[in-house]
Amino acid sequence: MAVDLDKIASHYLALLTARRSRAILVPIIVIAVIFTLISITDRAYQQPSINIERASETEDITDWSKFAYIQYATSSEHLCNAVMLLQSLHHLKSRADRVLMYAAEMLPDPKDMDGGGSQEGELLVKVRDEYGVKLVPIQVQHGDTADDTRTDSYTKLLAFNQTQYERVIAIDSDTTLLKHVDELFHLPPCPIAMPRAYWLLGNDTTKETFASHFLVIQPDKYEFDRVQRAMKLAAADEYDMELSNKLYHDTAAVLPHWPYTMLSSELCETNHTLYLGPDAKEWDPAVVMSQVGTIRFSDYPVPKPCKYWTADDGQNFIRMEPKCEMKRRKHKNKEGGHDKEEDCSGRDAWRELYADFKARKAVSHQLSSNSFRCVIL
Ligand SMILES: *[C@@H]1O[C@H](CO)[C@@H](O)[C@H](O)[C@H]1NC(C)=O
Ligand SMILES: *[C@@H]1O[C@H](CO)[C@@H](O)[C@H](O)[C@H]1NC(C)=O
Ligand SMILES: *[C@@H]1O[C@H](CO)[C@@H](O)[C@H](O)[C@H]1NC(C)=O
Repeated sequence: MAVDLDKIASHYLALLTARRSRAILVPIIVIAVIFTLISITDRAYQQPSINIERASETEDITDWSKFAYIQYATSSEHLCNAVMLLQSLHHLKSRADRVLMYAAEMLPDPKDMDGGGSQEGELLVKVRDEYGVKLVPIQVQHGDTADDTRTDSYTKLLAFNQTQYERVIAIDSDTTLLKHVDELFHLPPCPIAMPRAYWLLGNDTTKETFASHFLVIQPDKYEFDRVQRAMKLAAADEYDMELSNKLYHDTAAVLPHWPYTMLSSELCETNHTLYLGPDAKEWDPAVVMSQVGTIRFSDYPVPKPCKYWTADDGQNFIRMEPKCEMKRRKHKNKEGGHDKEEDCSGRDAWRELYADFKARKAVSHQLSSNSFRCVIL
């Protein structure tokens, strides 16, 4: 056998070295080599995408310290909500930094060991040490008068000043976070990205309005100067939403409201065209709740769940809750038709949303020692 092979090999070798066959064989070999090279290079081009997939499965090469979720607190009640949202990010295992900008009076020295004797200070120290939250003392931003109700909303825009980060996400704290939204730190460059105020989409005059409760911001000194100038010149009825629209109407990136954010009142609506678009599939609260990232409490006249509720508020809560609907059963009955059944999943989801917020609020109340003024029902 081995001898036979040797013979054959030497026979072909002889052929190769023969001048005439070389004239035919060399071009064939050259072509074969070129094709082999091309196919290797082809594979080399495909290689990186395979590597990237592998990388995202096993190791994360992103430097997450360049990104942060930002909360702000101008009052103790606000502080409580901000802490709750930061806790959610912790439990949801978001990889970015968490920053809390707070009115400097609460804890003048963010490195303080014991909270300086105030209850707000103690809570701040606790979230810093137990949840790794970065504390940034700030001067609360006022409009032109000191007792201005716009104070809170402007303070959010100090996010533009956190230039130690490449990108930050500011979500209003009257919101329940169901998923972290870390992927938004990788948006293409843009000074700010916001969702549309989708509930205004039905009106030609207002349909391009941005909502400002969910902001993805690139901190930047030039933009911060612009924002500060606009705050100083703002009219008495201009809040952060009006300012953001005025400054960024033509340059903001539109963040898809679905699936990133929804108002709690959407669960009470019977027509979901504005939220999901005209061609949307059937509204299924269970599916929506499993996919949406954040839900902001907004069910006027029901107060936010972070406020103290009176008996009237309790009545309004019952009055406003989503109605159960009669829906066709998926499976056919014996006669081949579809029976109807009562579906209360929207109402249940809505009730659960409020109950969950209040339960978490009770926990974060305990987080701080004794009687911190987190208002709980
Ligand atoms: C903006 O950030 C700088 C640097 O951290 C700080 O000194 C300054 O006070 C901030 N401005 C405001 C208005 O908070
Ligand atoms: C549309 O919005 C404008 C501005 O807020 C308002 O004046 C107008 O009444 C609205 N139109 C409808 C049909 O609701
Ligand atoms: C639902 O709302 C949209 C937009 O406001 C409207 O065009 C549509 O007719 C409504 N559908 C129903 C069934 O009422």
